[in-house]
Amino acid sequence: MLAGKHGCLVQKAMEFLVRLGEIYEAKKMIEIKYAFIYTAMHVWRRGRDEITGILHEDILKEAIDKGVVVKVPTLFHEFRIDLDNWERLKIPSIEVENYREDVELATKLGMIHVPTCAPYLINDMYYHPYGTDIVAVESSAITYFNAVLGARTNRDGISAFFAALTGKYPEYGYHIDENRVGDYRIKVKVDLKSHVDYGLLGCHIGDVVGTGVPVFEGIQAPKVRDLMALSSALSTGGAVTMFHVVGVTPEAPTVEAALGRTEPKAQITITSEELQGVYENFSGEIGAVLDFVVLGCPYYSIYEIKELVNMLEEKKIHNNVELWVMTDPQTKNLAENIGYAKAIYQAGGKIISGTCPVVCPGKPGAGYCREHPEYSVGNMATDSIKQAYYAEPLLKAKKVFLGDTERCIKAAMSGIWR
Ligand code: F3S
Repeated sequence: MLAGKHGCLVQKAMEFLVRLGEIYEAKKMIEIKYAFIYTAMHVWRRGRDEITGILHEDILKEAIDKGVVVKVPTLFHEFRIDLDNWERLKIPSIEVENYREDVELATKLGMIHVPTCAPYLINDMYYHPYGTDIVAVESSAITYFNAVLGARTNRDGISAFFAALTGKYPEYGYHIDENRVGDYRIKVKVDLKSHVDYGLLGCHIGDVVGTGVPVFEGIQAPKVRDLMALSSALSTGGAVTMFHVVGVTPEAPTVEAALGRTEPKAQITITSEELQGVYENFSGEIGAVLDFVVLGCPYYSIYEIKELVNMLEEKKIHNNVELWVMTDPQTKNLAENIGYAKAIYQAGGKIISGTCPVVCPGKPGAGYCREHPEYSVGNMATDSIKQAYYAEPLLKAKKVFLGDTERCIKAAMSGIWR
């Protein structure tokens, strides 16, 4: 591959990976078994800088003409556009054209388009994830792959695309056993009642440990949604890539196994006081009028959609409130087939898939807010700490309210945060 026998694209990919390995002093290349990647072909193929210039359109075209395809099962999430709602969301048509072009090119290279930030909910990883070397993008998914599923991945970027093309990756970071053991011991002495509490915990600990590997003790029988919220929040408050929950996650049967042989850098006890401290950053005034309610970050599974439908009880969302329920297109289809979507639509809510406010180039979305400095989403409520965290800087939210799903739904109905 390095000698160019598989064409220019594969050669450039391998040159990049070799350089990456040299920088991180990797001892060897390893085989990867799965890739979850992001593609931005329309940017890459016109790129001129040192990295994206590697992917000039002539190189991509030559690869496609020669039948180059990815070497491992690869899902890619081109994740900006809701194709069912792009006009209503005022997504510029050029973005939609770029999106379709990107999807077409990536599909020709053998990748499967799965526009979601929670791919593990809807597709297996082809091989059993435990102990499997993979490459991945999307911070909340990376942490979930590593900690909850026991797969091995770094925080990748364009390197994930190159690894998918070659099937190889330099052995460094979280692909090495000793880097996966915990270095902070966290004693949780508070009952975590909902995924919002897991989000508060993750945000706080992420802030404290930064890029560390926290080991949580005292967490009992979390749901998948709880672990998703914890994964997402740890990589929002900090840049955590790996964590352990003793007795729950696969590399932490005991606290000793999770910590390895080294002494933790710190022992931290979490009580309701610490969670309350984080919560207060996202607890706007009671009685404020609401404009926007966002649920499903990371994307909801069909279980959360079912619970939400039960909470709606055939009532209506307040006329002045925009309600977004976010999920992947497959789950949206399922919700439409079994009637849950109808209940949400009849209440006045919308199911958004393939994008979210943080990545959407339309309205409301970070891209739109950048282009229109006068715009604001207004007062926003959410059951996700990640959305709450980005609401002010990216969406120009005036006030942000964080609460469990039921509280958000009740507020969406009354139009008032209580
Ligand atoms: Fe997914 Fe957007 Fe949240 S990408 S994790 S819904 S910020």
